[in-house]
Amino acid sequence: MSNLVYVLNGPNLNLLGLREPEIYGTATLDDIAGMLEDSARELGLTVDTRQTNHEGMLVDWMHEAQAEGARALIINAGAYTHTSIALLDAARAITIPVIEVHLSNPKEREAFRHLSYIGMAAAKTFEGHGPDSYKLALEHVASDIS
Ligand code: DQA
Repeated sequence: MSNLVYVLNGPNLNLLGLREPEIYGTATLDDIAGMLEDSARELGLTVDTRQTNHEGMLVDWMHEAQAEGARALIINAGAYTHTSIALLDAARAITIPVIEVHLSNPKEREAFRHLSYIGMAAAKTFEGHGPDSYKLALEHVASDIS
């Protein structure tokens, strides 16, 4: 089984650290990527962390994760979580597990954030734990024997 885990990040997550810190905290995406590298090393995994503001790029990277035979795909789709049937279809089109993460807990925020399309195809969701949501997702991947 491959040790490679894709960690995909969607729109506006490049601004973490600056962006609404009262909601998303002060860690940058580079900080989170570094934390994940450390965790991955301990767990015997390799992470490939990426960010894009473009929906189609996320779809392409989901296909790539499948083609590369990655063990799993962790995704924070940002606002596309709540709008993108294309990401839902991509998650259903690939056979590797998709784990959804969010820094905040969208279910406790505005009503328009309560619906998650990608969540409909996610094996598991970790939300509301700040950067630890990603770490919990990675630990879940490492512990998942299925
Ligand atoms: C987010 C939650 C989304 O509702 C929002 O659009 C984001 C970030 C989170 O990580 O908490 O961009 O995915």
